[in-house]
Amino acid sequence: MTNTIRYDRGADGIVTLTLDDPTQSANTMNRAYAASMSVALDRLEAEHDLAGVIVTSAKSTFFAGGDLPEMIRATRADAPDLAALLGTIKRDLRRLETLGRPVVAAVNGSALGGGLEIALACHHRIALDAPGSRLGLPEVTLGLLPGAGGVTRTVRMLGLASALTTVLLTGRRMRPTDALSVGLVDEVVATPTELLERARAWIAANPHPAQPWDRPDYRMPGGTPASRSLAAQLPAFPATLRKQLKGARLPAPEAILAAAVEGAQVDLETALTVETRHLIGLLTGQVAKNMIGAFFFDLKAVNGGAARPADVDAAPVRRLAVLGAGMMGAGIAYACAKAGLDVVVKDVTPEAAGRAREHAERLLARAVRKGRTTEADARAVLDRITTTDQVDALAGCDVVIEAVFEDPALKQRVFAEVLPVLAPDALLASNTSTLPITGLAAGVDRPADFIGMHFFSPVDRMPLLEIVVGERTGDVALARAFDLGRRIGKTPIVVNDGRGFFTSRVIGKFIDEAVGMVAEGVPAASVEQAALQAGYPTGPLALADEVSLTLIQRIRRQFEAASEEFRPLPAHRLVDELVDAYDRPGRAAGRGFYSYDDGTRGRLWPGLADLITDAGRAVPFTDLQERMLFAEALDALRCLDEGVLRTETDANIGSIFGIGFPAWTGGVIRYVRQYAGGPAGFAARATELAGIYGDRFTPPADLADRLAALRAEPADVA
Ligand code: NAI
Repeated sequence: MTNTIRYDRGADGIVTLTLDDPTQSANTMNRAYAASMSVALDRLEAEHDLAGVIVTSAKSTFFAGGDLPEMIRATRADAPDLAALLGTIKRDLRRLETLGRPVVAAVNGSALGGGLEIALACHHRIALDAPGSRLGLPEVTLGLLPGAGGVTRTVRMLGLASALTTVLLTGRRMRPTDALSVGLVDEVVATPTELLERARAWIAANPHPAQPWDRPDYRMPGGTPASRSLAAQLPAFPATLRKQLKGARLPAPEAILAAAVEGAQVDLETALTVETRHLIGLLTGQVAKNMIGAFFFDLKAVNGGAARPADVDAAPVRRLAVLGAGMMGAGIAYACAKAGLDVVVKDVTPEAAGRAREHAERLLARAVRKGRTTEADARAVLDRITTTDQVDALAGCDVVIEAVFEDPALKQRVFAEVLPVLAPDALLASNTSTLPITGLAAGVDRPADFIGMHFFSPVDRMPLLEIVVGERTGDVALARAFDLGRRIGKTPIVVNDGRGFFTSRVIGKFIDEAVGMVAEGVPAASVEQAALQAGYPTGPLALADEVSLTLIQRIRRQFEAASEEFRPLPAHRLVDELVDAYDRPGRAAGRGFYSYDDGTRGRLWPGLADLITDAGRAVPFTDLQERMLFAEALDALRCLDEGVLRTETDANIGSIFGIGFPAWTGGVIRYVRQYAGGPAGFAARATELAGIYGDRFTPPADLADRLAALRAEPADVA
């Protein structure tokens, strides 16, 4: 097997273990690592006059996490083999920390998951403050738990409550300085030379170290569950977790909580075994596969440019124009300036345009306050944003992103106005959330350069960009839009044109279904709970208020006017009554499905009960949840059929990152694949729902065959 760890003994008696897998750009905890570490430990234990050990890496990162291509394939039959592998990895890390000689982790770059677990088995951790370096145990975000001692050692280092809340349950990826303040590392240094110097100095000063938990006087910070004070707090842990997850039942956080609490009551070796067993439960379950599939493989494919035309050269953006300084325009301008682009924002008056700078000032002031940026860097970002009400100020811009009101005539007019002053080949992008791109492009004489760049609100926080390719959009425009999206740190999915594209259309089905249930007489609170417990980040009625019921109404009316496919639904009537008869247009007005006092969401409006016309049959809770999930999944399947979606990878990523489809599913199409019984099981259940609740749930014929013909799971092609 490949050796992934170089072993060098210096004249000073210090052995440096350099993690350097020759077959990969990053080190991972694969079988080759396990075998190499065993060999390294054999040699270390046989050394005479060993002064100490430095563990470092030859890659730009220290060490990534587990071997995900292997992990995603794990089945129940693999459990004994996986347990043996984890046993070997843990045994060797234990040998390392009980070597009797000082072992220092010189963490030269990101140490996430397995990488941090190796460092935790060292006596002392020094992290280089390298740009972009992140430390943490993000396993929970992949439906896993840190199973190479990460749960066991963080609990013993930080105490149960602190390890759970700051490290294990959040999966937070920390900058080195944050890892220092949490206590995960002992020192942070500025240069690689210092890193090694400090490591040697620590070894010289600490010839016989032991881990805190191996010392006779060890006490777990905050006490063990057997201590009275912690025992009194323990019952609150699961309740707090459930509250944090808003009632959703997710296997990984529950397993982490269990492994941490159980492990804190037993000796270290037993705790490590407990941790392994919980990890294997997760690894062989469905949710981890869903999440690894989406958050690792799909995300890598999307960000890696699977949808970008490969034969178009990159053309850097020099100066970018944003039309409209509203919520979206200001957000887009800030995101671009932050990424180092010069931005000119135009609105109808200097004051209106000035709001883009005010928005940036607010966000930058907050970033400075929180230590995320410096005054000087913040000033530089702000200096890149100019605002204007004059068309001439946009002279020479090579990209324009339009974000004026959602009105096709206005959008065409502003493009016509600015086209003459822009660079002759400028990319023409619209941030419309629903209007077909092909129609908007009809107003310009270069439709090949016209494209949709649909951002999500708030732009600085939402990672998704939905790029919309119109009928006449060219490959060069697509490549440029994609590159710009990546440049500003977004995850760009690429879809074809259609009303509402993919995201706005599918989220509309979610809201329609939920509001429809309220119209049927299901208590609104039950609808919200059903969604939250299914793993949606926000209840659909709260979301509808957020979007604004007026906007929902306007989009539907545009659809009604433009398409013969429009069908009236009970949800439409309910929204109309709320807006037109009861003046409850949504959050911005302070009243919608909910009441808002001082801007914060209060109670559901009791008057809703009077708006129900249907007799109201009892709908099982699972049906409430599956009606929402299926409504979205079935429409996503239609999007694939109609060619609005080009790939299911884009569907999965777009649904999770753009419209809050529950993360545990691994995305809206993976939800269909992973449903009990697979796509055939999904189709059978959809047919059942159609029988009870209506034709909209009728699944496409031969669904299972069609999905089988589509791309295989990423792990199979990795
Ligand atoms: P907004 O109402 O906050 O801002 C629109 C801005 O456009 C206003 O500042 C207005 O003064 C300006 N404007 C109007 N006519 C103009 C003209 N002739 N020249 C320059 N500026 C002009 O609207 P918002 O929410 O920012 O939406 C803008 C666009 O983004 C719409 O197409 C919307 O559908 C889309 N969008 C909105 C999202 C949201 O969550 N609000 C999400 C994604 C896209």
